[in-house]
Amino acid sequence: MPPNPAAPLPAGTQRRTPLFVNRPSDTIIITIDGPAGTGKSSVARALARRLGLDLLDTGAMYRAAAAIAIDRGIDLAYPDRIVAALEEADLHFDWAADPPVILAWTRPIDHRIRDEDVTAIVSQIAAIAPLREHMVRKQRVIWEQHPRLVAEGRDQGSVVFPHANIKFYLDASASVRAARRAGQLKAAGHDVDPQDLVAEITHRDQLDSTRAVGPLICPDDAVRIDTSDLSFDQVVDRLESIVHERVTGI
Ligand code: DC
Repeated sequence: MPPNPAAPLPAGTQRRTPLFVNRPSDTIIITIDGPAGTGKSSVARALARRLGLDLLDTGAMYRAAAAIAIDRGIDLAYPDRIVAALEEADLHFDWAADPPVILAWTRPIDHRIRDEDVTAIVSQIAAIAPLREHMVRKQRVIWEQHPRLVAEGRDQGSVVFPHANIKFYLDASASVRAARRAGQLKAAGHDVDPQDLVAEITHRDQLDSTRAVGPLICPDDAVRIDTSDLSFDQVVDRLESIVHERVTGI
């Protein structure tokens, strides 16, 4: 039975995109964007698993670029050199792994991309215009090769895949995101002041949403979900039910 476009959506969500109908063989692209600390990556992974789609973690690509810049000793004042190194590195994923593992120069680089020095500079790396152009091109090629995809990042619905079947934008208050991050850091044995984290997150939001290229924005046609008061499973359930409502044959 075709989905009913007039059916009510779960509380807290808005319908903005037109209804798309897909057959199983069709391409499908679901984008999930939003700031750090909304649980986006884990949600995207769980959603992709439930729906049997491939997962594209674009943050891993920007993190890999930052790791390459550091490990090759390339100064951020020379963006062209970073882009040249990236072209040579031919970033790609090993899709046989779950989640897919990112490789540079055919070697896995996933063990490096969450290190503190990488996290410290990745926002600056992600603001380099030619580097973003390189990533956008690569991400579109990945979709050609993996045409049933959940793509997660900051600009996936707004820039990279404006024609996406469904665009999600996950958000949460800065204090909730800081508390989640504090929990993760504590679990990893780091002692942190939540107030410092609120300031850090607010600063990063400001950088991400005001940069000239690919800024973090919520596209007009995205389904925006505030995850502040929702559990992880509630968020995944909500996304999954919206996908099933709008896309048949998935
Ligand atoms: O989601 P993450 O924390 O792994 O992202 C790492 C950095 O990359 C973060 O500063 C935002 C940036 N990023 C981006 O600018 N565009 C994307 N599509 C994905 C990530």
